[in-house]
Amino acid sequence: MAVRPIRIYGDPVLRAKAAEVAAFDDSLRALIQDLYETMKAYNGVGLAAPQVGVSQRIFVVEVPLEAGGSERFAVINPTLDQRGGKESGEEGCLSMPGINEDVVRATELRLRGFDEHGKSFERRVEGFLARAIQHESDHLDGVLFTDRLSPLKRQFLRKTLDELARGEVPEGYHPPEVRGGPDGDRL
Ligand code: NI
Repeated sequence: MAVRPIRIYGDPVLRAKAAEVAAFDDSLRALIQDLYETMKAYNGVGLAAPQVGVSQRIFVVEVPLEAGGSERFAVINPTLDQRGGKESGEEGCLSMPGINEDVVRATELRLRGFDEHGKSFERRVEGFLARAIQHESDHLDGVLFTDRLSPLKRQFLRKTLDELARGEVPEGYHPPEVRGGPDGDRL
């Protein structure tokens, strides 16, 4: 098990359409353990496989529960449908350090997919979990949260994005030792 380096905006793997997982084997489960470890090390609440350079349809999420504690799970070959509601909320992305913007997402949806043992599941999700799942699923299609902002907002972020693509990370960014901070939830 290992913390893997996170690919930053500008890396082509973040723009690729990820492949369906065909084999639910030990190497898949090892990758998922690495995703959990990496998400934790970077203090993230979600992480998709392309963000560690693996172009496969896999992501992990960890969200706080109202009753306390948190829930963590892996989703493989996800399908999202039956979306309802719309809400604007702040997002960030571990692949885009320093950028936090409000994004409009569905407030609820049906998630179907497979767990790391190849068992299919289906559940309705809402609230922050629904947001996280939409963000992570986008990663599997090469879509980043900034793509979902208004053209004006994207224009405003152009310079920052260009800097990230050139390998210039924001001042104060020291992955993965620095954890927490007031800069919103990073997915
Ligand atoms: Ni992200």
